[in-house]
Amino acid sequence: MTVDLNIEYYKNSSTFGQSHRSQPVPKMFPRVITICLLGALTEQVFGASDKVICYYASWAVTRPGNGKFVPEDINPNLCTHINYAFAGLNSNGTLQILDEENDVNQGGFKRVSALKEANPNLKVLLSVGGATASTDAFTSIGSDPEKQQVLAQNAIDFFETYNFDGLDVDWEYPYGKETFNALLSGLKSAFEPGGYLLTVAVNSIPGEVGGYDIPTMSSVLDIINVMTYDFHAQYTGQTFENSPLYGGVNESDWQHENRNCDAAIRYWIDGGADPQKVTIGIAFYGHGYTLQDASKHGLGDTAVAPNDPGPYTDNLGSLGYNEICELHTDGTVVFLDDMKVPYLYDDTFWIGYDNEASAAAKVQYAKEKNLAGVFIWSIETDDMHGFCGEENGLLKAINNEMKK
Ligand SMILES: *[C@@H]1O[C@H](CO)[C@@H](O)[C@H](O)[C@H]1NC(C)=O
Ligand SMILES: *[C@@H]1O[C@H](CO)[C@@H](O)[C@H](O)[C@H]1NC(C)=O
Repeated sequence: MTVDLNIEYYKNSSTFGQSHRSQPVPKMFPRVITICLLGALTEQVFGASDKVICYYASWAVTRPGNGKFVPEDINPNLCTHINYAFAGLNSNGTLQILDEENDVNQGGFKRVSALKEANPNLKVLLSVGGATASTDAFTSIGSDPEKQQVLAQNAIDFFETYNFDGLDVDWEYPYGKETFNALLSGLKSAFEPGGYLLTVAVNSIPGEVGGYDIPTMSSVLDIINVMTYDFHAQYTGQTFENSPLYGGVNESDWQHENRNCDAAIRYWIDGGADPQKVTIGIAFYGHGYTLQDASKHGLGDTAVAPNDPGPYTDNLGSLGYNEICELHTDGTVVFLDDMKVPYLYDDTFWIGYDNEASAAAKVQYAKEKNLAGVFIWSIETDDMHGFCGEENGLLKAINNEMKK
């Protein structure tokens, strides 16, 4: 199976897929290595792969029925960080609150940061941008030091007002390494005195959209969340996996090097990122299709359409894990040993997604590569009502694997 995938879906991500879109080691980490230095016994502690960074799509409060998810539905002990998605940016450098009613009047920001009372180690960040956000404001701020100052001060005021711990920059996608570096460096120097965190979410196929200055980013940032999903987002008439950990045995060399989590993570590490700043993304959703023939339900078989929008996430061509579990209890699950991800088919419905086993495999991978940990897009589509098994099965599987 040779597939020539184009990159149009990056530009079209507002019309397909739900990732980052707004509205509508061996198992003994932490490794402790003891070295003798000048006669003194010095313990050097290497970082652990222990971060579980949970993006929270705050607009899930308005979803109907079982899809509704409010800040208090977040288990503060299953995440180390919560990234509140999303705020926007004004071109003058100020933060733009996108949903005043939910974020402020209904207390969305404060109710999420209040989760720190139950887990004092929890960090709560504001995520700015997302797949549907305009990139113009980012570009304008990145090329103007005065606007960077405005943004930095505005962000710090925000952190103080709402008890947040930092900013996650989700610019999809930066054009020009210099502009991005300038934006990040400006923010970092303003945040440093207060100890505020600065993180980013980045494209998992950097070479295709201009690239990043990886060494500079790694030195400036606290965390780089590599969005290792949507590898096959655009509908091309065939079934695909959303987030294969490795290339498939029948895939081309190009696909092996470009269209799986391992390739993306290697790109960042080989490019100079400190593994302890990199997280691998785990998608709590899949990309689905309508099969041409219910009896031809393998990977790469013919699909005639993207799947219909789900009742909660309401996106053509994808379903949240919660929707997969609730709507397709009779589906057949096939786990691909090469790619380490499952697909499910149910009559003419087919979806490539992540389940507990594949989420655990990604945690194992993070440990093997000594990464900072994992991040999740996004926690409100976990199986919170337990249709597939345990309630919040994916987040629990991730935490259980991390503790092993
Ligand atoms: C920045 O732009 C926003 C949106 O146009 C506006 O509401 C705000 O007052 C401006 N702030 C400053 C400091 O100019
Ligand atoms: C690879 O392709 C062959 C020939 O089409 C097929 O029989 C086999 O099942 C495929 N393997 C996987 C893992 O998809």
